[in-house]
Amino acid sequence: MSKCPYHTTTAGSPVADNQNSQTAGPRGPVLMQDWQLIEKLAHQNRERIPERVVHAKGWGAFGTFTVTQDISRYTRAKIFEQVGKQTQLLARFSTVAGEAGAADAERDVRGFALKFYTDEGNWDMVGNNTPVFFIRDPLKFPDFIHTQKRHPKTNMRSPTAMWDFWSLSPESLHQVTILMSDRGLPTDVRHINGYGSHTYSFWNDAGERFWVKFHFKTQQGHRHWTNEEAEGVVGKTRESTQEDLYGCIDKGDFPKWTVYVQIMPEADADKTSYNPFDLTKVWPHAEYPLIEAGVMELNRNPDNYFAEVEQAAFSPSNAVPGIGFSPDKMLQARLFSYADAHRYRIGTHYEGLPVNTPKCPVHHYHKDGAMNFMGQKTGNVDAYYEPNSFDGAVAKPDVKEPPLKLSGEVDRYDHREGNDDFSQPRALFDLFDDGQKQRLFSNIAAAMQGVPQEIIERQLALFKQVHSDYEKGVREAL
Ligand code: NDP
Ligand code: HEM
Repeated sequence: MSKCPYHTTTAGSPVADNQNSQTAGPRGPVLMQDWQLIEKLAHQNRERIPERVVHAKGWGAFGTFTVTQDISRYTRAKIFEQVGKQTQLLARFSTVAGEAGAADAERDVRGFALKFYTDEGNWDMVGNNTPVFFIRDPLKFPDFIHTQKRHPKTNMRSPTAMWDFWSLSPESLHQVTILMSDRGLPTDVRHINGYGSHTYSFWNDAGERFWVKFHFKTQQGHRHWTNEEAEGVVGKTRESTQEDLYGCIDKGDFPKWTVYVQIMPEADADKTSYNPFDLTKVWPHAEYPLIEAGVMELNRNPDNYFAEVEQAAFSPSNAVPGIGFSPDKMLQARLFSYADAHRYRIGTHYEGLPVNTPKCPVHHYHKDGAMNFMGQKTGNVDAYYEPNSFDGAVAKPDVKEPPLKLSGEVDRYDHREGNDDFSQPRALFDLFDDGQKQRLFSNIAAAMQGVPQEIIERQLALFKQVHSDYEKGVREAL
C-alpha cells in the first residue's frame, strides 16, 4: 500500500482507476467523456517548452557562496557585506551550440550561469568558462550563432560556415584559440573555471565606482579530454557531465570554486592601452591582480530537473544595488536579450516560478497576464498604480547608482578599426607548452576538414599575425 495520499485529477477529484480507459464494452471504443484520459493526453502534448536558442544542453545544482575576504570597500552589495556571510545560489552549466539532447563531451564553450539569491534581490552572473568571447559587437551575435547551428539545407553543422565567419572576424582569434586548446573540451564542469567575462561595475557606500571582472577558479583542477578520448566517451554515454555532477554531489563530494575579482578604478578606463570594455580582451593579471572574495560550493542536486533547471531563467540584467553594468556593447545587448528570451520560452511571469523567485520580499506594479498566480504584489490591495494614497510600495532612493559620465557622437563605429586582435592570443599561445601547441594545431586541422582552401588560407593568415609558429603548426597538421 502506497504511503502517498490518493491520486486525483488536477482539479482535485479522486481518481478511481489509473490503468484502464473508459470504454463501451471490454473491446472499446473509448468514450469522449473519459476526461481523465483526455486530460492526460492533453497534458502530455504540452510537456515541452521551447529549448534555449543557445546553451540548450545543461546541468544544474544548488549551493552556497561564502565571503572569505572583505571587498566591501568596493561594493555595497549585500552578498559581500561581511566575511563569513553565506548566500544561496543556483548554478547551471551548458554547452552552447548543441540541442537539448546533444552529447555532453563536445568541444564547445561551457556556460557558467549563476543565480545568487541575495538579501536585495537576485544577482545573476551569466558567464562562460572563457574570459573572452568570439565577437565584440552584439549586431554580430545572431550571425555568429547561425554558423554554430545547423545548415538550412544539409541540416548538419557546417565547418565551412564557422571558419568563413571566424576568418572574416579577426576579433574571434582569442576565443577560437581557447576553444581549440585543451580547455575547449573539459571532462565535466567541476574541472573548469568560470568568468563573468564582461566588465561590470561595483559601487560603494561613498558613491565611488570601480570597474570589475569576476573569476571563479576551480579547486578541483583542470581536466580535459583529447578529441579521441571524447569520441570514446560519447560512444559509451551522452550524459557524461550530468553523471559526473549529479554523482559527485549525490555522494557528498561537493565541488568548489574560489571567487576572485579584478578591480579597476573608474578613471583608469581612459588610460589602458586596450579598451577595458572590449569582450575579446582580458585585463592582464600583472596590471589588475586577482583579489580573493569568497568560495562557491555546489552541494544539492535539484529534486526536479525540469522545474528547477530547465525553467531556470538567468539574465545579466538581474543586478543588485552595489553591482552594475558597463559600456560594453555586448553586455548592453544581453541586458535586453535574456529577459525577452524568458518571456517567449517560459512566459510573462517566469520570475514567479519558485526557482527564479527572489528569497527577499518582492513588490511591483505589474498586473495580470497569462498564468498570473501571484495576485497583487504592491503591498496593498487598493494600490495597483503609483503614486497612490494606499500605502503601496515606493521607490528606495538610497540604492541609486552614482551617475556615469558618457560622451561621443552617435554613429555606427567600425569595431574592427584600430583594434589589436593579436597580442592577447599571442600571450595565450606563449603560455602553451609544446604538447599543448601540438594539440591546438591538430584540433584546428581536424575542425577544418572539408573547408574550402581559400577560407583556410584566410584563417592561416590570421594565425600568422598571432605567431608564425601558430600558422606553421596548423599548416603542417593540415
Ligand atoms: P597570467 O600568466 O597572469 O595569467 C594567465 C591566465 O591564463 C591564468 O588565469 C590561467 O588560469 C590561464 N591559463 C593558463 N593556462 C591556460 C590554458 N592552457 N588555457 C587557457 N587559460 C590558461 O597572464 P595574463 O593575465 O597576462 O594573461 C595572459 C593570457 O592568459 C591572456 O592573453 C589570456 O589569453 C589568458 N588568460 C588571462 C586571464 C586574465 O584574466 N588575465 C584569464 C584567463 C586566461 P588558471 O590559473 O586557471 O590556469
Ligand atoms: C543563454 C543571448 C552572449 C552566456 C543565452 C540565451 C540567449 C542569449 C537568448 C538563451 C536564454 C534562455 O532562453 O534562457 C546572448 C546574446 C549575446 C550573448 C544576444 C551577445 C550579444 C553571451 C556571452 C556569455 C553568454 C558573452 C558569457 C560570457 C550565456 C549562458 C547562457 C546563455 C551561460 C545559458 C544560461 C542558462 O544556463 O540558462 N544567451 N548571449 N552569452 N548565454 Fe548568452
